[in-house]
Amino acid sequence: MLTVSNISVAYGAISALREITFNVEKGEIVTLIGANGAGKTTTLKCISGLIKPRQGEILFEGKKIDRLPAHQITKMGIVQVPEGRKPFVDLTVWENLLLGAFNRPKNEIATALERVFNSFPRLRERLHQRAGTLSGGELQMMAMARGLIANPKLLMLDEPSMGLSPLLVREIFSIIREINRAGTSILLVEQNAFMALKVAHRAYVLETGRIVLSGTASDLIEHPKVKAAYLGE
Ligand SMILES: Nc1ncnc2c1ncn2[C@@H]1O[C@H](COP(=O)(O)OP(=O)(O)OP(=O)(O)O)[C@@H](O)[C@H]1O
Ligand SMILES: [Mg+2]
Repeated sequence: MLTVSNISVAYGAISALREITFNVEKGEIVTLIGANGAGKTTTLKCISGLIKPRQGEILFEGKKIDRLPAHQITKMGIVQVPEGRKPFVDLTVWENLLLGAFNRPKNEIATALERVFNSFPRLRERLHQRAGTLSGGELQMMAMARGLIANPKLLMLDEPSMGLSPLLVREIFSIIREINRAGTSILLVEQNAFMALKVAHRAYVLETGRIVLSGTASDLIEHPKVKAAYLGE
C-alpha cells in the first residue's frame, strides 16, 4: 500500500533521515519507534507532503506521491494526526471535527460523524465545548476523530500516547486496534515502544535518521537491543 524507498531529508545542512526504506501493507498496523530526534515526525511529514525528500521515492497504491502537494496526498487517502494535537482552541469540538470533513461530500458527513462517535463516545458529550478547554486525553481523541472523519485508507498517528495517564494510553491503543479492525491501515509513531509493539503487526526502529532494526512486533519486543534501549529492561 505504502512503499518508502531510500528517503533522505535534510533541514539545511542537518541530515534528519538517511536513506530510510520501509513499507505498510493494506490492513496492517506498522509502528516506527525511536528516541527524541530520531526522525519519526520528519518521516510522517515527508509522507504527507509537508516536507519534500532530498532523494528517494514514496509510492502509495502504486502511485508516486513524493512530489505531490499535501492536499492531494490527503485526497488520495493518507491522513496525518499531528504530534501535540494542535486544536483550534477557540472553536468547539464540533467545529474542529467538521474541519476534518472538508474533503467529504455533504451527504456522507453525518455517517462519518456517527462512526467517529462510536469510537469516541465521550466526544459526543462535549460537542459544544471549546477545544481549548478539553483535557489532554479528550484532545487526543478529538485529533484522532478529526483524522478519521476524512475516511483515510492510511491513518498516520504521531505519538498518540504522549502525556496521557496509563489508563488513557490503554484506551487510546485499544481504539487504534478497533480502527484498524474496521479496515484502516495505520502507521504509528511512538516513543512508548512497549504499547506500540503490543498493538502493531510489524515495527521499525529508527535511530538518528536510520532504520536499524525491523521485524514483526512480537519478535522485536523480545529483541535484546529493543529491550535494553526502548523497554527499560
Ligand atoms: N524544521 C526543522 N528545522 C531544523 N531541524 C529540524 C526541523 N524539524 C526537525 N528537525 C531536526 O530533525 C531531527 C529529527 O526530528 P523529528 O522531529 O523528526 O524527530 P522525532 O523522532 O519526531 O522526535 P520526538 O520524539 O522528539 O518528536 C531532529 O534532530 C530535529 O532537531
Ligand atoms: Mg516527533
